[in-house]
Amino acid sequence: MVSNANHDHGMIESHPLEGTTYPPSAEFAASANINDPAVYWKAAEDPEAYWATQAKELHWHKPFTKTLDWSNPPFAKWFYDGEINVAYNCVDRHVEAGHGDRVAIHWEGEPGDTRKVTYEELLFEVKRAAVLLESLGVTAGDRVAIYMPMIPEAIVAMLAVVRLGAAHSVVFGGFSAESLRARIEDADAKLVITADGGYRKGKVSPLKPLVDEALALETGQKHNVKNVLVVKRGDNPVDMVADRDLWWHEEIAQVEAQHEAKGFNAENPLFILYTSGTTGKPKGILHTSGGYLTQAAYTHKNIFDLKPEVDVYWCTADIGWITGHSYLVYGPLANGATQVVYEGTPDTPDWGRWWSIIEKYGVTIFYTAPTAIRSFMKIGRQEVQKYDLSTIRVLGSVGEPINPEAWNWYHDVIGGGTAPIVDTWWQTETGAIMISPLPGLTSLKPGSAQVPIPGVTIDVVDDTGNHVGHGNGGLLVIQKPWPSMVRNIWGDPERFKETYWSQFGDQYFAGDGARLDDDGDIWLLGRVDDVMNVSGHRLSTAEIESALVGHTSVAESAVVGASDETTGQAVVAFVILKANQTELTEENAEAELKAHVAKHIGAIARPRQVFIVHELPKTRSGKIMRRLLRDAAEGRDIGDTTTLADTMVMQTISQRVRDERDAKK
Ligand code: WT7
Repeated sequence: MVSNANHDHGMIESHPLEGTTYPPSAEFAASANINDPAVYWKAAEDPEAYWATQAKELHWHKPFTKTLDWSNPPFAKWFYDGEINVAYNCVDRHVEAGHGDRVAIHWEGEPGDTRKVTYEELLFEVKRAAVLLESLGVTAGDRVAIYMPMIPEAIVAMLAVVRLGAAHSVVFGGFSAESLRARIEDADAKLVITADGGYRKGKVSPLKPLVDEALALETGQKHNVKNVLVVKRGDNPVDMVADRDLWWHEEIAQVEAQHEAKGFNAENPLFILYTSGTTGKPKGILHTSGGYLTQAAYTHKNIFDLKPEVDVYWCTADIGWITGHSYLVYGPLANGATQVVYEGTPDTPDWGRWWSIIEKYGVTIFYTAPTAIRSFMKIGRQEVQKYDLSTIRVLGSVGEPINPEAWNWYHDVIGGGTAPIVDTWWQTETGAIMISPLPGLTSLKPGSAQVPIPGVTIDVVDDTGNHVGHGNGGLLVIQKPWPSMVRNIWGDPERFKETYWSQFGDQYFAGDGARLDDDGDIWLLGRVDDVMNVSGHRLSTAEIESALVGHTSVAESAVVGASDETTGQAVVAFVILKANQTELTEENAEAELKAHVAKHIGAIARPRQVFIVHELPKTRSGKIMRRLLRDAAEGRDIGDTTTLADTMVMQTISQRVRDERDAKK
């Protein structure tokens, strides 16, 4: 159970388990990339100078002389008179340094097919792809949408786009045609790169047909997509639209791998990544080049203690999420790492798949999410113990608080009782890790992300912005600008200011609750807004509600994130049907509405449960009291309902939830 997560009420009273701590072994500390504790005060003394030093680890086409411009908050500029090419930093410079033979990607397809891509081969592919994109009219300042499975071409496509100074918008392959279309429109993409499909759970899950559907939707708005480039992965039949659709393999065979990477301004847009907020419309989080790459590379190297010559790194995230961007593409490649990329799901053909991959490639650094760890805990350690995981030396966790039970299991069963676990807190908006232990320095506390990284200043404050002090809970704020920070919400600077910068002046409000323990270590307590965290993925209650009321038979809906043993939180919907509708019955409504949400947003948003109710709990002013619905969904007694317009509503709803639970027993 996630005992310390996600209660907007009771957050302050939460008592996480505190007990054993795990200092780094003398051996680990001795060879760690960072092992001098002075790093913290040195960075704190002059964070800008600290970050400038880190930025100089990258190759600059034109060196910067300015570090930070914060004269117009909240719009930051970092290293802003410098010029950089992000793709050059991720590929060319490693080849030029003589590491062309080093494996960049050990790719493992779900059916068992494999590919090994060295840095030299990666450079060849990225150059050809850049030439191809250029021939399709992509230039600096454009946006390209990428809707792809986890295959090497996805990484090649991202790097080719940014090599040209254009920006990508990667859309997770699990999103629906409608979600894809909304993102294509919002970013005004002129090209879509996709594949016929990708393997998931033993089957090809189609992608190109969804692109066709997305581009054909009548939305009342025009899109400007001129071409669709299609990588052939499966043998999934696709319709190619004349003059629009092109096969990647046919086109790329016709171009030469000759392409010079030019420098672009450090603040040139690098990518937009859409994430859920508190309204129905996803936010296009904008990241730029120099600062983002600096912090992605720095954190990847130092938090995972990467030794690029010998380590084999594996991050299980999909490129459709920020973790995939920062810790599968930009961080590892900027550092010249060798990594595993796996296409499929952890249970295909069986629950041993991940561990067999670790054994096969000798993975030394492994980064995954608590929800996955909890799934494996349910299956049992015997599935893991069939494999030799002795190469593992660092473990990472991301996406939600890792409960101490899962921490201990991860430590013992996957980490052999010795590998340090770095619990990394960050967000799509922060671009890179912000709070985490350093494995060569920090005495680990299971369940706590512990301390801001060097160069980052974080506080826990009360509603009025005052520091809460050790032993207390409150809201997490980031006090000073950091290099990989979100620069804007694409096309909506007002929403950007309002969402993150209106509560506490020019300190960034993260939307998370947190508590400081007696040592001042940070314990994350989950979101304090209407954002849910399901399997480490962010979903908005408002977005799912609006999908539900988009169904012709639905009058009203309220969605809550209820705690769930495996996924952290799960989507639970309460729905009122229209009085005169005849399509849905008590029997078919739940299945139909679950499918409706999956179709309109994507399978990740599919509710765990849908309750058909006759009334929703509302205050006299008409505001839905989601807190009460969450209490009901989590099986708690409903407390004070006197502020409700109709005090009987909750009794009926709680009874519905209890009946369903009893029926399952
Ligand atoms: C939200 C950000 C960062 C990549 C994955 C999710 C939660 C993330 C942790 C952690 C406690 C965490 C927060 C945050 N979160 N990592 N180590 N401990 N909570 O990115 O979709 O932008 O979601 O995930 O609530 O605000 P995201």
